[in-house]
Amino acid sequence: MALLEQQQLDASYIQQTYKRKPVEFVRGLGTRLFDDEGNEYLDFISGFGAVSMGHAHPQVTSALQEQAAKLLHVSNYYYVEGRGELARKISDLLSATADPAAASPWKLFFANSGAEANEGAIKLARKYGKLHLGGATTIVSARRSFHGRTLAALAATGQASKQESFGSMPPGFVHVELNRIEALLQELDTQGQGAVCAVLLECIQGEGGVYPCSESYLQAVRAQTAKRGILLLIDEVQTGFYRTGTYPFAFQHYGVMPDVVTIAKGMGNGVPIGALCAQGPAADILEPGDHGSTFGGSPLVVAAANATIDAMAAQDIATHVTEVGAYLQQQLAALPLVSEVRGKGLMLGAQLSKPVAAEVVDAALQNGLAINAVGSDILRFLPPLVCTTADIDVLIERLRALLDARS
Ligand SMILES: Cc1ncc(COP(=O)(O)O)c(C=O)c1O
Repeated sequence: MALLEQQQLDASYIQQTYKRKPVEFVRGLGTRLFDDEGNEYLDFISGFGAVSMGHAHPQVTSALQEQAAKLLHVSNYYYVEGRGELARKISDLLSATADPAAASPWKLFFANSGAEANEGAIKLARKYGKLHLGGATTIVSARRSFHGRTLAALAATGQASKQESFGSMPPGFVHVELNRIEALLQELDTQGQGAVCAVLLECIQGEGGVYPCSESYLQAVRAQTAKRGILLLIDEVQTGFYRTGTYPFAFQHYGVMPDVVTIAKGMGNGVPIGALCAQGPAADILEPGDHGSTFGGSPLVVAAANATIDAMAAQDIATHVTEVGAYLQQQLAALPLVSEVRGKGLMLGAQLSKPVAAEVVDAALQNGLAINAVGSDILRFLPPLVCTTADIDVLIERLRALLDARS
């Protein structure tokens, strides 16, 4: 169906929660997308960071095809082929930088999205508070953070503009300024003993504008939460699975070990899968009846995630992201109007000195580039991890012309 008809159906039958861009993608290959008229686009947003290994990755496609022909779904009432193996692989990745003698296995709960993974983590933290902290239920997260659109994940999100239409938020969430440890300590003291069960952070805030935690801040947060017996929850929904290069997860750049990690986006190359991962004292908090999901960890998405993670190892994506990420960062920094480039690996935000991000995104699309803005003056780049320096050269050449025209 052509774009115009699709737009008409969308306007009539779909709730207008997104201001969609005027394009209908019908096919993808690697870092390329193709619209309904066959026009080619270079994808530097990868479905908000989900299509980690590129569109139509051969191993992921055949794993999905084989699994679809065999068994789609049975529910969590039963064991699922490949699911234990997937959980073990992810546990090993989460412990990649841990001392093997001290590392205990991570235990996973499979969800269908990032928000759901965070909902599970919030429930886990509250139950931990009930069992070990005298009924503590409050979670401290950061201003400008983003943790999803379900009600508790939204309450954890430090952006009032996304909450305003929905009345009072579920209680038990407070927000502090990022990278100011005194602000966190003050909040913990204000809340008092027995109130706070967890601190929830993104190592690099994605939707909030690509703002990284400083190393000293995250290390201090870990030290303080450990000292007070409070859980440290790290939201790796956007940063996970090599997005930041070198390591599988962003927290591993910081030399800290969280108690709970939530993951989604890059895990299944675009299929809806997420998970909440817990270790040590947090690993066995949730028991039968505490949490569930009809679709979570179904055979189809498990097959896709196993294939995606295997492909990441086979293609040494860790080294690749580090190398091309450094190149992208350097090239972006030299563009007109770019005053700063934040982020790590292939999760980068270009701060512009003028509020022209939205018009640049629209003009970029007309020039065959899929990028996005996270703020009036911030462009965000989340390409498939397989993008090459040649892809980056194309991006930079087209972007330079667009920015030049506005400088
Ligand atoms: C850090 C973070 N957490 C949670 C979410 C929510 O994930 P989902 O859209 O899969 O519910 C996002 C989505 O952008 C995210 O970036």
